Amino acid sequence: MSKKRETGMSRRDFAKASALAAGFAVLSSKSGVAQDNADTLKVGLIGCGGRGGGAAVNCLTGNENVKLVALADVFEDRLTSKRRELESNSDPRVQPKVDIQDDQCFFGLDAYQRLLETDVDIVLHATPPYCRPMHLEAIVAANKHTFIEKPFAVDAAGVRRCIAASNAAAEKGLSIVSGLQRRHQTSYMETIKKLQDGEVGEILAARAYWNGTLPFSHERKPEWSDLEYRLRNWYNTIWTCGDNIVEQHMHNIDVINWVLDAYPVKVVAAGGRAWKPNEERYGDLWDNFTCDYEYENGVHMLSMSRHWRDSANAVFEEVTGTKGKSTCRDMGRDRSDPYVNEIIALVQSIRGEVPYINEGVRTSESTLTALMGRMAAYTGKEVTWDEALNADESLVPTVLDFDQEYPVGPIPVPGA
Ligand SMILES: NC(=O)c1ccc[n+]([C@@H]2O[C@H](COP(=O)([O-])OP(=O)(O)OC[C@H]3O[C@@H](n4cnc5c(N)ncnc54)[C@H](O)[C@@H]3O)[C@@H](O)[C@H]2O)c1
Repeated sequence: MSKKRETGMSRRDFAKASALAAGFAVLSSKSGVAQDNADTLKVGLIGCGGRGGGAAVNCLTGNENVKLVALADVFEDRLTSKRRELESNSDPRVQPKVDIQDDQCFFGLDAYQRLLETDVDIVLHATPPYCRPMHLEAIVAANKHTFIEKPFAVDAAGVRRCIAASNAAAEKGLSIVSGLQRRHQTSYMETIKKLQDGEVGEILAARAYWNGTLPFSHERKPEWSDLEYRLRNWYNTIWTCGDNIVEQHMHNIDVINWVLDAYPVKVVAAGGRAWKPNEERYGDLWDNFTCDYEYENGVHMLSMSRHWRDSANAVFEEVTGTKGKSTCRDMGRDRSDPYVNEIIALVQSIRGEVPYINEGVRTSESTLTALMGRMAAYTGKEVTWDEALNADESLVPTVLDFDQEYPVGPIPVPGA
């Protein structure tokens, strides 16, 4: 048992839970829904979208004696369609573990708080990132374990809140696994162990790319208020998604941080917006970033992230050492689904079957790594780690209200 767990809070009897994990079979009721026992882990989902639904299925597929009992989303239609989808899942590993009652379904901006008032043990969190810091604080305050998507924040203030909340979770012995699934992908895990053991010698340089196509964007419907449109069209404003370097490319950046077991000390960057025509629909995002990050040991990482239509896509990581090169996954093999693995790891940590897992601080650090690249690009200035961490940058409106206006922009212009 880890030191953190010994000193931390645990409202579950871990010894009992471990015994259960050794040989428990889920009991089935006549309705086909698995019956609870004292050790059943109850799961609630906040953010009933594509990834949230995927995470719920991954959780139920990979673990025994867990049950999905509660859903929360800001929009009722998203919640209702996801509930229907989950309840009609015919996979025998999933179907008996879905048991959602009407009074465990919550919608609205405070839906997350109401879900946290229920007796769920685990929260799966897959909203867009703008509300993640506030929600992570609340999850920890409510003494819940969590699988929580990346990125953790869209600004420096949010990163600081997530670091504090992750440390508070450690004090309480609450497990946190984040949606950086490469960390649970066997090809990466095996290769990066070898790289850290010196397989390609001393690492001299790194590259990380997410050059992809356009993310979704929606036309505004006449009945949508400003806030409803921003939240439904969340991949198109900086305060809701963080821009593409943060929202998507942080996966690749995190891999290089993992290999080097460090985060960069400074960055210079460039970028812009090559084609996006319409500020309302395509918001204030840029669509390309190129960053030159420098680590304390002098290693540079070239990072490139683009959202361009009909251009050459490339999503990869690469390191070059004194004895060769690696893609960070070429010396291992994929044997299982990393999206399932990550939630198995969470449940094992909760049940004390593996050492305590809390990925909160390192996910915050990789979020900040992406954010510092964005800061350098938007401002045209070199940005150090300390400047990024302490930046007076807080982009998410303090009040979210469907009757208020949330104008888009301005689009960042370096030096302006
Ligand atoms: N790890 C991965 O490979 C991976 C893949 C896809 C998405 N993601 C991440 O998952 C997150 C969600 O992405 P998605 O594709 O599922 O988006 P989505 O739009 O399909 O789902 C997001 C859901 O969150 C809801 N929501 C928004 N604000 C909310 C709030 N305040 N309270 C409760 N619910 C709220 C939305 O209504 C929506 O139903 C993003 O941060 C994204 O980066 C990660």
